[in-house]
Amino acid sequence: MSISYNGDKKLFTLETKSSTYQMQVDEYGFLRHLYYGRLVNGQDMSYIFNYHDCGFSGNPYDVGNRYISLDTMPQEYTSAGVGDYRVRSVAAVNADGSRCVSFRYSGHTIEKGKYGLPGLPAVYDNGGEAMTLTIMLADAVTGLEVKLYYGVFEELDIITRAVSFSNSSEKTIVLEKAMSLCLDISYGEWDIIHFQGRHCHERIIERQPAGHCVTKISSNRGISSHQHNPFVIICDHEATETAGDCFGAMLMYSGNFDAEIELTQLENVRLVMGIGTEGFSWRLNPGEVFTTPEAVLCYADGLTQLSHRLHRAIKDNICRGKFKRAHRPVLINSWEAMYFNVSEEKCYALAKEAADLGIELFVLDDGWFHDRNYDNAGLGDWYENKEKLPDGLKSLSDKVHGLGMLFGLWVEPEMVNEDSDLFRAHPEWALSVPGRAPTLGRGQLVLDMSRQDVVDFLYEAISRLIREGKLDYIKWDFNRCMCDIYSHELPADSQGEVFHRYVLGLYSLLERLTSEFPDVLFEGCAGGGGRFDAGMLYYTPQIWCSDDTDPIERLRIQEGTSFAYPVSAMGAHVSASPNHQTGRKTPLETRGVVAMSGAFGYELDLGKLTRDEKDEVRMQVEMFRRDEELIHNGLLYRLSSLKKNCGYSAWQIVSEDRSKSVVNYVAHEPKPNSWATNLKLRGLDPDALYFIEEEEMCFTGSSLMGGGYTFLRPTGDYTSYQIHLRKV
Ligand code: GLA
Repeated sequence: MSISYNGDKKLFTLETKSSTYQMQVDEYGFLRHLYYGRLVNGQDMSYIFNYHDCGFSGNPYDVGNRYISLDTMPQEYTSAGVGDYRVRSVAAVNADGSRCVSFRYSGHTIEKGKYGLPGLPAVYDNGGEAMTLTIMLADAVTGLEVKLYYGVFEELDIITRAVSFSNSSEKTIVLEKAMSLCLDISYGEWDIIHFQGRHCHERIIERQPAGHCVTKISSNRGISSHQHNPFVIICDHEATETAGDCFGAMLMYSGNFDAEIELTQLENVRLVMGIGTEGFSWRLNPGEVFTTPEAVLCYADGLTQLSHRLHRAIKDNICRGKFKRAHRPVLINSWEAMYFNVSEEKCYALAKEAADLGIELFVLDDGWFHDRNYDNAGLGDWYENKEKLPDGLKSLSDKVHGLGMLFGLWVEPEMVNEDSDLFRAHPEWALSVPGRAPTLGRGQLVLDMSRQDVVDFLYEAISRLIREGKLDYIKWDFNRCMCDIYSHELPADSQGEVFHRYVLGLYSLLERLTSEFPDVLFEGCAGGGGRFDAGMLYYTPQIWCSDDTDPIERLRIQEGTSFAYPVSAMGAHVSASPNHQTGRKTPLETRGVVAMSGAFGYELDLGKLTRDEKDEVRMQVEMFRRDEELIHNGLLYRLSSLKKNCGYSAWQIVSEDRSKSVVNYVAHEPKPNSWATNLKLRGLDPDALYFIEEEEMCFTGSSLMGGGYTFLRPTGDYTSYQIHLRKV
């Protein structure tokens, strides 16, 4: 049983394969959090928290006991304004203007299967393993009610959470904060790991001790953002890749988010996570329901195990459709090969070169439509530029298909340029505040996806493109941050809903398109990895990881990304040297090694490669095809991540059955007199013998893990090695 309820003690116990989660309704109806962590085999954990009069921590009126205070009680979901001064789950304005919410338990249900969230992405149940616990809490004075949902996936070792609010009163209540998750982690010395960055530098790991303050990781940019990611880890200060308590919390949401972490006066950590509060207010009219996005929780022993569990959940229970575990075509993308200077002739020539090298998919990136000669015009007009493609998109598509390749297209549907037919016809479809000149981002405005007419228009435009252009693939881009938030369709008192309604509109559009075109591979993108989150992965099984294609930069970007997201989700391409973003020169081999740990492709003018380089590309493509199953569906081990300034990056992928492995090593700089790097391999079968192809020698799994494998320190810039292991 993954969910059990002890009626005498009013104790709920959720169990996955290796974790226990426990909570209890106390005698006053407060839902106390008791425990989350390693399996405790049925133990009642209520003994952990120690209740005492904390001084200046108030007591609920009906309790009559100075030891009981919401300010010190670990809770599943907080109230507001009634004596808990820590970060909270909820903020509401009641009809009388008061801002207090006081929740007490009012019932629960336990059901087989996984709850659903209307209009929102959520972890789904594959083999009937999931169970759902729903706990109802109610505020007796205002009529605000919440349902706390817990989805327990025993085998996957994850617990999902979401919340729905309903208004059973006669008057409107305005929600100003409605978190998906509140987690009071018990005593300890905790670190926070989060992933920060900027455009071309996304998801760089940052680890810091949780301090006696509120640490807020968030986005108010309308997308999950380049700067922060809706994924945080709270881990033991001593936790490493291989051991230590680690809690991962991942929000399945692609818009504004907040993750607030507070080390409280009692030395335990509280985490709340959900939709970003900046600019958020939601009118909950009588009888209405508001549902939060889902948060995915995972407990693990060590960071590697945490990543493995999340990767599996994403691959099997978040990504959907035929591509989730299947072969992804190796692609050639036109962007860094020709930017806006697209023509049928150039595209066909590039596709032909690519076909000759074994590349399977030609992607026509930006620049192919209407007046799109630069980035200040054309967005919104989703039909081909007749000067560049005189015979139309279909003609190019037919020609590419004629080469035995697949054909894909770049679109940026959520955007509009003022210089476009669409904007001229529908200026009110862009987000902008009346009377105020809007802020431009890359010279463009954002369409108001909270409007049904906008979503319907885009559905028609994109589905027509897919049909007429016979598309096999779509790259779905988004290239600015959102601001000037105002929908011309909504009344003044609902403008605080626009950000979230936007995300709902986007999800509804993606849902329609991906279900109508199940054979089309969708790749997400937002100026590279500005919307790299589990919400998008529900619709697009891969996302362009970063606009920085420099392989040395990519080492850090892909490594940070890998803490939550699997290799198969990270779009990664071999590009030109010198690199267009950094000017750095790197060997083609290294570019291949790095991009191959991703959804692999090329993005350069193949016509400029020498004959030898072309042979090398051909070999890389073959190698990737041979090893794709291992690379995309194996278990990833970061061999160097926590070693700062070691001068190299190394990572290993091992097939689930431990029969194969690939080890990748990239030197950051040549280091004279430091002749070798010894890497202790991981995840192998200690009793098996492994043949290393490049050495033509056998080693035992235990020796490779115990004594390690020694790479000679290379000379030259950014040299890389790849070794392939096969169990004999
Ligand atoms: C974004 C994407 C790039 C490319 C350009 C085209 O920056 O991340 O890969 O598609 O847009 O304008």
